Amino acid sequence: MEDYKKVAGLIKERGYAVAFTGAGISVDSGIPAFRGGQGLWEKYDPMEYAHIGAFHSNPGKVWIMLRDMSRVIFESKPSPAHKALSDLESMGYLKAIITQNVDGLHQIAGNSNIIEYHGNHWQLVCLNCATRVALAPEVVSAMPYPMCDRCMLPLKPDVVFFGEGIPMKAMIRANEEANNCKVLIIIGTSGVVYPAAEIPYMAKSNGAVIVEINMDPSPFTSSITDHFFKGSASDVLPEIMGYF
Ligand code: OAD
Repeated sequence: MEDYKKVAGLIKERGYAVAFTGAGISVDSGIPAFRGGQGLWEKYDPMEYAHIGAFHSNPGKVWIMLRDMSRVIFESKPSPAHKALSDLESMGYLKAIITQNVDGLHQIAGNSNIIEYHGNHWQLVCLNCATRVALAPEVVSAMPYPMCDRCMLPLKPDVVFFGEGIPMKAMIRANEEANNCKVLIIIGTSGVVYPAAEIPYMAKSNGAVIVEINMDPSPFTSSITDHFFKGSASDVLPEIMGYF
């Protein structure tokens, strides 16, 4: 209890917080994380289903996983943790969210300054002509995969596949926020995917206080985290918000 209060006080006092989020924040929204028992990568080998080379060589196979993921995303809605971050932004303390998630739930919750480090699943793009199509159930159900009307080539969600680079603009903005923030709140990430996982280290070396919320410790916990809350983001964040 004292810690919730302490961290709320810290966020108020320091005045510039940034959140760094991962799949854990969306678990209570109905979207399983990637790693661990119920994880997407237990069901689908990422090298076979989420590598750009796999998309080029067998888009029909990759779209089996993408269709599955799309259906889960269609049914999801923001969790109390997403809502808490939206309130923190409205109060003026949270200046940005750097998210590895592609589900768009931070936008739906009402946040405005969101850096999507791994892209967004709600937009499909033609890799040939750059035409964009919004993700919708009727688009996703096209067999063997949704296609660009002009090029008759498979559409790909505008997300970063393994083997692809991070969108330049997102990387620049994320690095800026890691340098500017006075408190970095790491929420629900295993911290094993790079370069995203560099962000907390960058923030720490620029003097930010590191707050972390996770069900289990991550590589950040024993190395750079100042305040660790073990638990669900949907429980911990509303508790902290109770002290604003
Ligand atoms: P992971 O699935 O690797 O990790 C999810 C983390 O959330 C774990 O550390 C869990 O302990 C934690 N967690 C689970 N439920 C939680 C809850 N209710 N509250 C708080 N924490 C919870 O997901 P990410 O770290 O986001 O990239 O994965 C990073 C990247 O790997 C993803 O963006 C994706 C994936 O491959 C690409 O696809 C490029």
